[in-house]
Amino acid sequence: MTEELRVLFLISEIDPFIKIGGLGDVGGSLPRALASLSPENTNRHRIDIRICVPLHAPIRHKLPTEKIVAEFPLENKYGKVFATAFEAELNGIVTYLIDGEPVRQAPKVYNEDEILDGEKYVFYSLASLELMRFLNWKPHIVHCHDWHTAPAIYQLSRNRVNDVFFSDTRSILTIHNLPFMGNGASQAMTDYGLPPTSSTALPEWARHLPLPLGLLTADWITTVSPTYATEILTPEFGCGLEEFLASRRLTISGILNGLDIASWDPQKDKALISPFSVDSVHKRTINKQALLEEFSLKNDLDIPLLAFIGRMDAQKGVDILLEGLEMIADTNWLAILLGTGNAQLERATIEMQQKYPNHVRAAIRFDPKLSRMLYGGADMLLIPSRYEPCGMVQMIAMRYGCIPIAHATGGLKDTIRNDPADQKTGFLFPKNTAEELTQSLKQAFSYYRNQNLWRTIQQNAMRQDFSWERSANEYAKLYLRLKENTE
Ligand code: GLC
Repeated sequence: MTEELRVLFLISEIDPFIKIGGLGDVGGSLPRALASLSPENTNRHRIDIRICVPLHAPIRHKLPTEKIVAEFPLENKYGKVFATAFEAELNGIVTYLIDGEPVRQAPKVYNEDEILDGEKYVFYSLASLELMRFLNWKPHIVHCHDWHTAPAIYQLSRNRVNDVFFSDTRSILTIHNLPFMGNGASQAMTDYGLPPTSSTALPEWARHLPLPLGLLTADWITTVSPTYATEILTPEFGCGLEEFLASRRLTISGILNGLDIASWDPQKDKALISPFSVDSVHKRTINKQALLEEFSLKNDLDIPLLAFIGRMDAQKGVDILLEGLEMIADTNWLAILLGTGNAQLERATIEMQQKYPNHVRAAIRFDPKLSRMLYGGADMLLIPSRYEPCGMVQMIAMRYGCIPIAHATGGLKDTIRNDPADQKTGFLFPKNTAEELTQSLKQAFSYYRNQNLWRTIQQNAMRQDFSWERSANEYAKLYLRLKENTE
């Protein structure tokens, strides 16, 4: 006999339908992995997971078949605001797309206008809960992600006592990016009947912001890596919430994200001129050669080829990277830096190419095909992120035998093995400074000169298990624990 475990999953991005960053990968992969867990691993529960996502402007026209399942009003200060819920099957999961004026009036997924975003996400969060009542589908767990969905948790905690429908529902809030707390949403919260909290557990400035309120009232909090769960309790990473979070430390845990290993498979990757596996790593050389030719870099396979792949912004540490490369400009290396973002950092990257034309190529663009070629052809990936709740590029890189050189923080620390030497999967440097980055790079260069040693590191890296199944199992355990506490 299997029992049902109903999970309502609120997230603002679902790959491949709508993806801005790593959050979209989680929205695309985790629900699927949860739905396919075998009942043997879930204490004989079948997980019925349903997702609610806003019907963002950019996906209005690209939906597969969908149907309207509900139309209902929400009350705000000015009267009724109607919500429409469409049902579609995305990635094989029942997904409700929430529409209404506040969603329609926001042109992008995330908007520069914080007020507009506040209205959109408060409305979407509350409408998602109401939809469950409308469908008479009582979730055991509401699993929310980041500030965009946190108003649902706050609402749930306020109403649960008097609300039979949700009285047994437990909530989880997963932090993917703590600095984004929903500034600009306070007015919308007031308008929809969500007042500031009077709890002094939160600092005063945080008492009417969605993310802190969600963190205050969630039954459980997770971060996307175990290390990040401890880092957020410190002033360096806690964004001013460290003391409050430390007071909740017994209800915070870290569950590492997985990787979509079917989509990231060096043996089947169509973008690679020369696909390869752990037993044929030598075939990577052809990919490296192709990159050197395409970017008119010195055709010498003995020189390590470095890559950066990602958003060019402060979090990702592009400034540290450029400074570090400059410090070792007199040694032998080549680098291709791919990404877009902050205009100043883009410019600094281009200037780096102008200054060191024999070393550096700046590829200032969004180019998924090139990123795959880099994973499959470059020797090392530079990841000097200031903070990294989980991070995905390091997992892809390892799977493709491209060795990460990374700041020992968050998910980078949890996924990359620095020692012992014979089990190394990458290089970690403890403090994120240009000096430490270059120290680590120099060490990597000396390993690289010993091709046998390097091959061992590549094979160690490629053999890691980053599948979503492992994460899904941990989430399922957490769901069951919370559900059992209500029985
Ligand atoms: C955010 C974090 C990143 C994480 C992703 C998915 O983008 O910055 O570290 O991998 O969310 O959880």
